[in-house]
Amino acid sequence: MTAPDTIRIFDTTLRDGEQSPGCSMSPQQKVVMARALAELGVDIIETGFPASSESDREAARLIAREVRDPTLAVLSRCLPADIEASARALEGTARPRIHVFVSTSPLHREHKLRMSRQQVLDMAATSVAHARRLVDDVEFSTEDGTRTEDDFLDEVIAAAIANGATTINVPDTLGYATPEESRALFQRLIATVPGARDVIFSAHCHNDLGLAVANSLAAIEGGARQVECTINGIGERAGNCAVEELAMALKVRNAFYGVDTRLDTRRLVPTSQLLRRLTGMSVQRNKAIVGENAFAHESGIHQHGMLRHRGTYEIMNPSDVGWPDSKLVLGRHSGRAAVGHRLRALGYTLEDAQLDQVFAAFKALCERQRVVDDDDLEALMHGDVHGQGWRLASMTISDRGQRASAVIELSDPDGNKVSESALGDGPVDALFAALASATGVELSLESYQVHSVGIGRDARGEASVSVRHGEDIFDGSGTSRDIIEASALAWLDVANRILRGRAATAPAPQQAVHA
Ligand code: KIV
Ligand code: ZN
Repeated sequence: MTAPDTIRIFDTTLRDGEQSPGCSMSPQQKVVMARALAELGVDIIETGFPASSESDREAARLIAREVRDPTLAVLSRCLPADIEASARALEGTARPRIHVFVSTSPLHREHKLRMSRQQVLDMAATSVAHARRLVDDVEFSTEDGTRTEDDFLDEVIAAAIANGATTINVPDTLGYATPEESRALFQRLIATVPGARDVIFSAHCHNDLGLAVANSLAAIEGGARQVECTINGIGERAGNCAVEELAMALKVRNAFYGVDTRLDTRRLVPTSQLLRRLTGMSVQRNKAIVGENAFAHESGIHQHGMLRHRGTYEIMNPSDVGWPDSKLVLGRHSGRAAVGHRLRALGYTLEDAQLDQVFAAFKALCERQRVVDDDDLEALMHGDVHGQGWRLASMTISDRGQRASAVIELSDPDGNKVSESALGDGPVDALFAALASATGVELSLESYQVHSVGIGRDARGEASVSVRHGEDIFDGSGTSRDIIEASALAWLDVANRILRGRAATAPAPQQAVHA
């Protein structure tokens, strides 16, 4: 029996999330994601909508075989064929749930369903009863519930409970509600609808006004004990309630909310990153909890505070959500204290005058690049501020006809010119092939992205490249008005980092060893 102060997390990344543009996943990818969700500790995984496609049916069947712990739910309209398809897709599932829904709002009844109140009511009652004959765990959802007349919403929910629904979900389908309305709605339903105290009430909030998490938290205050969420907040239009934000709000402000989830919050970041890799849907840098900047501090004042006491600028520990540690990003805004701290962490103990010198070189470097990482600091310490590696002298790309070609000229680490040309399936493919044969460095790309930085006449392309090299991932970036040139700079940046690493770990040549 679940304690009343435990919030059930119903994860709909694979259904509501997956049905949004740019987020589709193959059945095999869904299995990978479902395993990660089970590891994260979600209580219920909605694996798909079996009546909608063969791919959803296959995903539900595959996940049913692999994932045993969480309850597995599938979505059905209030139609006999949908409910039968759902039951078939759930065969063999350890804990199956059929989730039936129907629209209840006047707008949906009139324009989408073309049905009267009575017809919707009858459909809800018969469908819940049908599903309940097939499985013991039946969730019923009132689509567009928050825009439904109070008396009708009460009536439909009472009918669903009377016919055997075990969870009642009241979606804010359009993300229209406010937190005060959400709290009051759940309070009223739980207090007044016959049978309400025997079932679990659930919130399913969309993010059209950016209120999905706030509305879900308010629903919890109103008595909801299940929240429907997605990883990274993906979902229809502006998305659904983001599980990482909800879970950490409940954890960090536990004294206020007084309820817990069963999630292992240390799995939040790895699960978020897995979803990003599987769908290619990037996560906003400043996204709470899982965004790259969520625990990054660049300004001198913040870095100084963090070095004295992390509580000055952090309300949670990055390791509690699965980040390795807070990141003091060294860049234009960073102060001398942060540079000194990072150098100490890298093993350098500097006198004040030495630190002044390195800090001046650091500031000069910041005029040329946005972020200064550990490799750059090491280079600064050795008076080797870039320039000793491979550098781009010129490039000509042509993309006419069947294949693209790239002709490049580079300066090698000793300043000699090296020219190469290559063909490829596109300009970037040709460019990377030419760079690989000129430098002799083969890079196995993990990701390659181009973003625009700045606007109008100042806009520049920033290319980022991640490559796997042995056990390690190396990142490089390059910025230019021309995105192909930015890509070349990013490629060379990462190749130079790998070469510097090799040089640093290579055994000293024989002739350099003196007794
Ligand atoms: O947003 C919504 O109303 C839904 C239901 C189908 C649960 O996703
Ligand atoms: Zn939804």
